[in-house]
Amino acid sequence: MNKDVESVVLTEEQIREKVQAAAAWLDAKFAKSSQTPLAISVLKGSVMFFCDLVRAMQTPVQIDFMTVSSYGAQTESSGMPKIVMDLAASVAGRDVILVEDIVDSGNTLVTMRNLIMGRGARSFTVVSLFDKPARRAVPVQADYACFEIGDEFIVGYGLDYAQQYRTLPYVGILKREVYEKK
Ligand code: PRP
Repeated sequence: MNKDVESVVLTEEQIREKVQAAAAWLDAKFAKSSQTPLAISVLKGSVMFFCDLVRAMQTPVQIDFMTVSSYGAQTESSGMPKIVMDLAASVAGRDVILVEDIVDSGNTLVTMRNLIMGRGARSFTVVSLFDKPARRAVPVQADYACFEIGDEFIVGYGLDYAQQYRTLPYVGILKREVYEKK
């Protein structure tokens, strides 16, 4: 285990199970869809989950990416997510599947929903690996959340602290001393 991680929240095996369950939920929802859904990864945090999720689905999807950032090097959300890199595809008339690693304050999700529905998407479905309902600042939720957690600071499998720890294959709680000493 990484020396800065206090304990493991999701092992690689548990992540695989969560991914399979989320993929099965999406397959059930989109199996009879008249068009190919567009799955969007909200970078960078969702990248690992996204790649595993779309490969676990039976339903063919097209993929696209958007980089949205609200934290900078902080552990608290700024409340104003910035679009750093926009989508390549048009979402007009599309069934959009938005893939997030975590819904925390909810600001990113609201920003994305307003943007994508504002561009004329036909539907908007959100799948998130983690949900942190205790920290919600705006009333919004994922349609499917794999795992609910309390107010711990978690890293790994895409999730970062100051751009570090994203490549850990599991998700763990970061030791407080790591971010409190800064
Ligand atoms: C994180 C995470 C979500 C968002 C959730 O992204 O990946 O997109 O914050 O927080 P919220 O519900 O409070 O908006 P971040 O802005 O840290 O960028 P990153 O994905 O590059 O880590």
